[in-house]
Amino acid sequence: MIRKGRLGQRMDWDAVVFTSSLDFDRVLLRFDILGDIAHVIMLSEAGILGRDDAKKILKGLKTLLADCDNLEFAHELEDIHMALEAELIRRIGDVGGKLHTARSRNDQVACDLRMWVREEVNTISYLLIRLIKTLLKLSNSHRETIMPGYTHLQHAQPTTLAHHLLSYCDAYFRNLQRLRECYKRINLNPLGAGALSTTSYPIDRRVTTRLLGFDGIIENSMDAVSSRDFLLETMASLSLLAVDISRFAEDLILWSTYEFGFVEISNEFASTSSIMPQKKNPDTLEIIRGKTGRVIGNLTACLAISKSLPNSYNRDLQEISPLASNSIEIIKASLTLMEKILASLKVNQEKMAASCNETFITATELADFFVKKKGLPFRTAHEIVGKIVSEAMKAGLKPSDVDLNFIEKVYGKKLGITETEVKRILSPIEAVKSRKTLGSPSPEETSRMIKMRERWIDREEENLKRRINRLRSCEKTLFKEVERLVG
Ligand code: ARG
Repeated sequence: MIRKGRLGQRMDWDAVVFTSSLDFDRVLLRFDILGDIAHVIMLSEAGILGRDDAKKILKGLKTLLADCDNLEFAHELEDIHMALEAELIRRIGDVGGKLHTARSRNDQVACDLRMWVREEVNTISYLLIRLIKTLLKLSNSHRETIMPGYTHLQHAQPTTLAHHLLSYCDAYFRNLQRLRECYKRINLNPLGAGALSTTSYPIDRRVTTRLLGFDGIIENSMDAVSSRDFLLETMASLSLLAVDISRFAEDLILWSTYEFGFVEISNEFASTSSIMPQKKNPDTLEIIRGKTGRVIGNLTACLAISKSLPNSYNRDLQEISPLASNSIEIIKASLTLMEKILASLKVNQEKMAASCNETFITATELADFFVKKKGLPFRTAHEIVGKIVSEAMKAGLKPSDVDLNFIEKVYGKKLGITETEVKRILSPIEAVKSRKTLGSPSPEETSRMIKMRERWIDREEENLKRRINRLRSCEKTLFKEVERLVG
């Protein structure tokens, strides 16, 4: 339709298919129509569009909105903006061609993308809050569940499952904060920028800003049509979130092996083998681990697409949107599944505790005893305990087999403590309980941390609700405005 004037000829079919964004654009359909509605109201208020024309167009747009899910578009139409305009003209006649007055697809698509991504960021934030809440609940019931803490994936020092889970909880919380930051820079109105330099029509950008629930305006019109950093920033935040989701998936995959045996994931999230009848594989977690890799890849691709573009709008920008969408879908599904997997997770507390008696996981406590009670420099204590551990291993002893006599023999001196005291020093649960430091795994400290985070998450939820309600009420006002004008 728009080719008639300048180009005449049809576009080569391969080129049509290659350049069309219609497949992705369905995601933007509803936002595109809402943007149209706000634009028409603004044009009418500014006296750029006559009352009767505005009425006809708004009526047509209302029917498009009602048919949103069933609209079919021909590929020749390039993108959703052209497709909707064509459908509008088909429905209400030539007056539909007035819709595009004082506007370009460049500010239109930027507007649609921002409206779409702000909703998605809200949805992801909601899912993240749900996951954090489940983690907090699970943590609360495992404040005394002793397990080995690892560094280098080797037994290091005893901790609790609550402590381990809370570490993810805090990482997820920071992801939530990052998304809240992103939202501020997403929710700005680019409409009115036109192709790149605004327009000579007396438009009022503040009207569409208000009607579409934006918190402000992307002022410079070139910046408005050329920047996609709101998407890149969101994708970067989603990539960091993907890393934290994948790390956790990896822990759960390891923990559900025979060798660890710390947890069992529900059969609902497992698969079996086509040849080995005994197998239970944590496929859902593996796919989460795999797909989150794509989120990182999508970010890299989008950065590469953006980095050499001359100012301002270039069609290359179109290639960013489907990748952003792919990352968003992966993150939403991963968060949903992670929450379900955690909520139905079986924890093998005995196995976790028993694992702490397999290695000399409380060796640091024994070294600390030599420092605190015998006045030795830590380095000397470290050497003595290293020797005790290596002798015990040579003798085939488990930590629970090591007694006062054995330690004194290696140390070469009397310790002046009782057998009970030795047992206490070497006990994993005692090691955990003895830690009073801020952020430690002791049950009192994890209890404090859980309570504090419950308050944090309530505040985040309130904040999110406010954001969502504001968008809803702006949409209601928009429709009221339509009814007033349509009469
Ligand atoms: N599909 C395009 C995009 O996503 C819409 C804007 C097209 N603008 C243009 N001048 N061809 O970027």
